[in-house]
Amino acid sequence: MKKANIIKHSWGAGVLCALVLASCAGGNPDAVCLIPKPAEMQMHGGFFKADSSMILAPDGEKVRYVVDSALAGVGDEGYRLTVDGDGIELKAATEAGVFYGKQTLLQMLGNEGIPCVEIEDSPRFGYRGLHLDVSRHIFSKEEIMKLIDVMSSYKFNRLHLHLTDAGGWRLKMDKYPRLTSHGAFRTESDWRKWWDGNDRKYLPEGTEGAYGGYYTKDDMRQIVAYAADRFVTIIPEVEFPGHSEEVFAAYPELCCSGKPYTGGDFCIGNPKSYEFMENVLTEIMEVFPSELIHIGGDEAGKQNWKTCPKCQALMRKEGMKSVEELQSHFIHKVEEFVNSKGRRIIGWDEILEGGLAPRASVMSWRGEEAGFKSAAMGHDVVMTPGGYMYLDFYQAFPNTQPYAIGGYTPVKKVYSYNPLPDDSLTADREKHILGVQANTWTEYIKDEKHLEYMMFPRALAVAEIGWTPQSLRDWNDFKVRLNRHVETLHRRGVNAFPLSYEIDFSMEVDTVARQITVAFDAEKYPAEIRYTTDGTVPDASSPVYDKPVVVKDSAHIVAGIFVDGKLMGDVSEKKVDYHRGINKPIHYNSELYPGYMAGGMNALLDGYRGGLTYADQRWQGYLDNLDCVVDMGEQTEIHKVSSRWMQLIGPGVYQPEYVELYVSDNGDDFELCGKIDTDIKQDDSQLKFQEYAFSGNWKGRYVRIKAKNPKGFIFVDEIVIW
Ligand code: ACM
Ligand code: ZN
Repeated sequence: MKKANIIKHSWGAGVLCALVLASCAGGNPDAVCLIPKPAEMQMHGGFFKADSSMILAPDGEKVRYVVDSALAGVGDEGYRLTVDGDGIELKAATEAGVFYGKQTLLQMLGNEGIPCVEIEDSPRFGYRGLHLDVSRHIFSKEEIMKLIDVMSSYKFNRLHLHLTDAGGWRLKMDKYPRLTSHGAFRTESDWRKWWDGNDRKYLPEGTEGAYGGYYTKDDMRQIVAYAADRFVTIIPEVEFPGHSEEVFAAYPELCCSGKPYTGGDFCIGNPKSYEFMENVLTEIMEVFPSELIHIGGDEAGKQNWKTCPKCQALMRKEGMKSVEELQSHFIHKVEEFVNSKGRRIIGWDEILEGGLAPRASVMSWRGEEAGFKSAAMGHDVVMTPGGYMYLDFYQAFPNTQPYAIGGYTPVKKVYSYNPLPDDSLTADREKHILGVQANTWTEYIKDEKHLEYMMFPRALAVAEIGWTPQSLRDWNDFKVRLNRHVETLHRRGVNAFPLSYEIDFSMEVDTVARQITVAFDAEKYPAEIRYTTDGTVPDASSPVYDKPVVVKDSAHIVAGIFVDGKLMGDVSEKKVDYHRGINKPIHYNSELYPGYMAGGMNALLDGYRGGLTYADQRWQGYLDNLDCVVDMGEQTEIHKVSSRWMQLIGPGVYQPEYVELYVSDNGDDFELCGKIDTDIKQDDSQLKFQEYAFSGNWKGRYVRIKAKNPKGFIFVDEIVIW
């Protein structure tokens, strides 16, 4: 074997990069299309003739696997790999390292064998996880094993199973058999009918037509062993003290009212709740060897605690001032118990409220703040912020997708996530960020095909976030490899989303040059993007996108991907205006909702238009009506004023009943110029946008927009004034 001559981070080098792109895009496609990208890699040209049986065999003359606990520089999970024309040498300090090296080899294996290469690789984070909710919908043991198989190919090492929730209790317990005989089946599979439709009733096991199921401990032990063989730890989650409606269908005495169907929270004042917790967790720890035991902690309603005599008595006894302290009291008890068995708890970030248990680890899901705060307090953290890491969110334009819970996390957004941004954390805090996890909640995911469609290929972006040094992560490079791996996943029988033909537009507003530059991107690679700027649908003779489009006034960009002269999928559109209202002062007569300020007071007049989600920091939301006045600075001829609004009734976002335009010379006396009613029905459950555009010839200094909120939220962006 030649001596390794590793060039640090050599993927960035021009020659190698060209080679990688070329081989990923055509030729021998699988040769170096690695996900996650290794930390250090150098190609040497040529191949070692090998097949998968050679790689999977324990050891051989030409294929040498060496576990050497003294091997330095690759950590617990890393490996050093040398492939030349004569053979393969793979060294690691652990069996896990050898396993990951083999995954790299398997990904590199092409028709000609394995390319000659030297790799020194180890993960950025020790925790690289996926989460699966098996409560809202249950998935077969075989599907979970298939998932573990695929995960391990991409070097994930944690699978967090959400085993209990209102959807059903999913693991048979010896001490509490009614959890599965009376809490694992329900009247309906379809969450929209069962939960959203307020049925929410459970049925005894064996009832004809009931939906549900559970795993036996034997099933689960098989899953745990299967995962362990692939260096994946199963982290079990049992929800306390909220999200437990199914428990009270089986054991109503554990909730405050003592009656089923009266809430989802355990009674914190009832000693039986603690007895249940200890008994259940004892059985859980017998099945799952994981050091971390997930105890839920999210979204307890806490309402019943305020009036429950037992909960109130406990608060008085302990001198507690808030129900948050009740939750914290319970979680502390859970932690004491779990610690007494030599394990540790991890919980959703609500466990910070009312006082964090001393040794608890935190899963930061409502953003990143709770995670950074916990790390600063010396607690271990797994980052799983909803805006990036929720794979139950839409991954493409919602109206083209199966119904989902909302949100918008296309793979590019997922990939953009960095658990350790900039230098915001000091090294001693950084070490508490264990890693990253993506969550797949399954309210609206009812079968295995749909599950795979939501998880993949987005999970591959998560794999690379967890493993690859941040300095090597680059979307343009990743998407080339991603496109190849979608094909690989399909060949493996994984129903991955085939990536979208949509165009992603990013805008750059330049207030000095008074222009807006629009760059186009697509998940698909290669992508021949053709476009127009006049609102017409592009065809095979329209210009091909090759550099960002500069807009000095107005453009209605319409773009699509063409293959062999044919438009693929739907076109994407973006209206762009460097309009006269940009950066003009705005005054609000109505109340802005603090949570949806869209990054500032001038968000409606910044030239940036909101995208597909109201959470993109562009849309401004109001629980009030909107009444705002734009000061144009001087008497101005006004010809066109428009505003664009969103409707998404799931989370309570509605079109305004109507929008009115007024103009004034002095800011006191306003003349009504027009009123436009919505033409979108309030019960339309699709994502809908409406632009309310007024045209005419008016003169004035002040432009006023009023919009009537029918109920819930209204969301607007942008106000365009010409
Ligand atoms: C969560 O999404 N409720 C953790
Ligand atoms: Zn109570």
